[in-house]
Amino acid sequence: MQTIIEPFRIKSVEPIYFNTREQREDILKKAFYNPFLIKSTDVLIDLLTDSGTSAMSSQQWAGIMQGDESYAGSPSFFRFEHVVQQITGMPLVIPTHQGRAAEKILFSIIGGKGKFIVSNTLFDTTRANIEYSGAVGVDLLCAEGKLPSVPAPFKGNMDTVALERFIADKGAANIPLVIITVTNNSGGGQPVSMQNVREVKRICAAHNIPLFIDACRFAENAWFIKIREEGYATKTVEEIARELFSYADGCTMSAKKDAFANIGGFLAMHNADLALQCRNLLVITEGFPTYGGLAGRDLEAIAIGLMEVMDEHYLQYRIRSIEYLTNKLIAAGVPVMLPAGGHAVYIDSKAFLSHIPVHQYPGQALVSALYVTGGIRSVEIGSLMFGKYDDNGALIPAQMELVRLAIPRRVYTQSHIDYVAEVIIEVYNNRLKISGLKITEEAAMLRHFTAKLAPVTE
Ligand code: F0G
Repeated sequence: MQTIIEPFRIKSVEPIYFNTREQREDILKKAFYNPFLIKSTDVLIDLLTDSGTSAMSSQQWAGIMQGDESYAGSPSFFRFEHVVQQITGMPLVIPTHQGRAAEKILFSIIGGKGKFIVSNTLFDTTRANIEYSGAVGVDLLCAEGKLPSVPAPFKGNMDTVALERFIADKGAANIPLVIITVTNNSGGGQPVSMQNVREVKRICAAHNIPLFIDACRFAENAWFIKIREEGYATKTVEEIARELFSYADGCTMSAKKDAFANIGGFLAMHNADLALQCRNLLVITEGFPTYGGLAGRDLEAIAIGLMEVMDEHYLQYRIRSIEYLTNKLIAAGVPVMLPAGGHAVYIDSKAFLSHIPVHQYPGQALVSALYVTGGIRSVEIGSLMFGKYDDNGALIPAQMELVRLAIPRRVYTQSHIDYVAEVIIEVYNNRLKISGLKITEEAAMLRHFTAKLAPVTE
């Protein structure tokens, strides 16, 4: 097979920053072993997130110049609205400054005490917005999705048997929404099959529960459906995306992922009453409904990016580049989430650092080692991010202890990725020298962003 190449040329570049291992040890210590507290100019390869970090295309930059900054009724809004309507089939489109702003508005309206919001896996900001409203977020991921080392084509699927049981148990009246995250970010960037979405929709419809899609990575999910699910090989990505959205009553989206934008998001839906309530809140928190927290130029960049992301050469390269890194790690024996996901490589840090107990945060210890060894910034998706405490103050760990290396879109080349693999393998071969961490300071919500840690040996 021929090498699948980057389907773009580079027109503009920016420097990356080199430093030494000794410098990085010092930087990490001063950042309290939390990668969110490191300056990006102290990072060599930044895989903290694929969100807002994409390289925009020349078309998008041209769109930036065409942005119309009128407060109301900007043509940039109408171009944006048209593209979102075309892809989602949803007539009511509400721009927000990013995904969590859409979540905040939605769950302020439909959440609240005594309510349950059910998902395959809620992303952390989604869960936080649900809990902030007083509602409870419930993850019903399929069994194979919880087993990092077991490959399966659609590990992001919802457990539909558990969904039926949950609805019977809690009552449909207490479940204002089911939301499916595509691809399932917190569960390894794994896709959801069309069949699963269809089945979830059937169950929701039988109980009059609206179904929403958290659509941040809809195009990557659509590509997986095309290459893995029977009956979709000859369909275009746009056709697949449209079918996917056709089962949903609405969606939230962070345009910072699959729209290649550096900022932005939206809500889209069919229900006019709900849209009216959302727009009323939008005016207070985001802005007038034709800009919603964004500049006209951002709306242009999103509209263009949403169409670009469905290019099949791009998606083939994108998914292949994640698989390429995953395969290099597998060959070296590094325990990774299988199969490769859509936007990131997930290392199973529980297996990688099996000598570090969960309450000493093996994921965060691995994140620290990757930074010190090679200047690579990654993020823990485990008990630092999702852990809770029981009544006695003991840690209730997360389901999995993953470390995510999220690959920004169109930003790094194959040699950057080769370097990343070399560093991870070096850390793996020296893993027994790594020790655990303890938390010295933390916030009540989303603690991973600001928590301070220290080596347990100190
Ligand atoms: N939903 C999912 C599945 C996400 O991955 C994110 C963001 C959001 C919602 C919120 O969107 O950042 O625009 O407010 N994920 C980023 C990440 C932050 O690193 O995975 P946002």
